[in-house]
Parts: sequence; structure tokens; C-alpha cells
Amino acid sequence: MPMHKINSDEVISTAGKWGSIRNLRRLHLRLTQETMTEFWEEAFRSKQEMWGSSPAKSAILTSDFFVSNGVKNVLIPGIGYGRNAKIFRDSGMTVTGIEISETAIRIATQHFGNDLTIYHGSVTEMPFDNEQYDGIFCYALIHLLDKDERAKLIQDCYNQLAENGYMFFTTITKEAKTYGQGTYISKDRFEMFGGVKLFFYDKETIQEEFGKAGLFEIAEVNENFPFYLIKCKKARQKVEFAPGSSSKAFAGGHETVR
Ligand SMILES: C[S@@+](CC[C@H](N)C(=O)[O-])C[C@H]1O[C@@H](n2cnc3c(N)ncnc32)[C@H](O)[C@@H]1O
Repeated sequence: MPMHKINSDEVISTAGKWGSIRNLRRLHLRLTQETMTEFWEEAFRSKQEMWGSSPAKSAILTSDFFVSNGVKNVLIPGIGYGRNAKIFRDSGMTVTGIEISETAIRIATQHFGNDLTIYHGSVTEMPFDNEQYDGIFCYALIHLLDKDERAKLIQDCYNQLAENGYMFFTTITKEAKTYGQGTYISKDRFEMFGGVKLFFYDKETIQEEFGKAGLFEIAEVNENFPFYLIKCKKARQKVEFAPGSSSKAFAGGHETVR
């Protein structure tokens, strides 16, 4: 299991230098992000195409829906090595990805060449460009994040949706056998599988988190684990998100891997 070595000298010196809780939280977030990057790097390095090359069931359902609704350009946050990208591309859509693991991006490039743009970085750093996408498909990523990060991801995705665009998220549910296993972190969030932190959704928490983001349907899809396919449409009216989930405008400077 990859472990991030927390440097206590760094923690103490930063605490002394900055001397504020806010900055300590920033340091904590950076260490968490580095740990997650190492986790996924190691997973893709050792297991390569660990979920095979076929698209997930939810990707097929989403692609069909996007085709019927005239979606032309799709953003896939947490694209991995791109197994879910092909079905959208084969249906004539342009796909752009965001991915934290360089190894996964390298594998995707072997499949798609320079024809698929993947931004290298964490979704917590969104936005990576100024595009408005008319479809967003986010598979099995949001449940890896903490509450603030989930709120920010939902808002950032919503901000990058074109008017009348659709964003679909898949997430693990409390019906999964693994719910409640591992180390308890906070309500419905547990650490397991050698370092992954998972938040298990139910319909109430989906309503709470996506209710203001154009939520119109919650479908159940079995993908080895019981998943929800959360469907949102961008409304015309301005949406006020909860305080604390505010997001910055794209300022450039992220690394792009093609
Ligand atoms: C459960 S996997 C799903 C991968 C892909 N969607 C698929 O099904 O083939 C989660 C993916 O999100 C990526 N990931 C995890 N945390 C991330 C983050 N904060 N920002 C961007 N990508 C992240 C992982 O490297 C991994 O590729």
C-alpha cells in the first residue's frame, strides 16, 4: 500500500510560519492530495488497464442519452485511461478529460494518440479551461472526495455546463456490501481498499448535494457495486450554491497532456 510520509518538520515549521488554521488546512489538503495522487499512480503503474477496455454500463446509458439530446462535446473528470471515452467519441462527440494520474494519461495516449486532450491535475483545481461543455460524465470519482471537495466539483462542473447541458455522475451507494467496512472517517465515509476514502450516497444525500444543480433523476445501475447514476440538467435561471463551495475562474497555467 502506498503511504505518503508526512513530514512533521514541515507541518511544525509551516504552522509556526503561517500560524493560522486556514493555512494548516491548506497543508492538510495538499498532503491528502499528494497521498491520493500516489495511490492512483501506484494502482495504474502496477495494474495498468485494471477495469478492462469495455465501457461501464453507465457510460453506455449516458452516451445513448447524450446522442438523443444532441450533446456534442463532453468533459470526463477522472477519465482514467479512457475506457469510457471511446463510446462517446464513436458516437461523434468530442471528449476532454481531467486525470490525476500521469500513468493513466500515458495509457490513454497510447490508445487515442494526440487526438484526446486530458488535463493533468486534480478536479479540486477545476476549471482547467474556459470551455462550456454540453455534456459532463463523471464516473466513480465524486465519492472519493470529502464534503467540501464534492460541493466544489458539483459547482465547477455546473459552471462549465452550457445552458441546457447535462451532467451525469455515478457513485457508490449505501446498498454496497462494503458500506460500513474499513475505518470510519465521518458519517457514511470510510477508508478501505488500502487507502481509498469512500463516501456512500443515499437518495437524501444526493438530493442535498445535487438538488440545486438541476437534479432530475436518480437511476440505479449495477456496476460490480450498486451505483447511482445521478442526472442533472443546467437550468436557465441562476443557481445559488451553498457558501464555501465557491469556485475560481480559469486563470490558465494547468498542464495539458494530449
Ligand atoms: C474509480 S476510478 C474511475 C476511472 C474511470 N472513470 C473509469 O471508469 O475507467 C477514479 C479515477 O479518478 C482519478 N482520480 C482520483 N482522484 C482524482 C482527482 N482528485 N482529480 C482527478 N482525477 C482523480 C483516478 O486516478 C481514477 O482514474
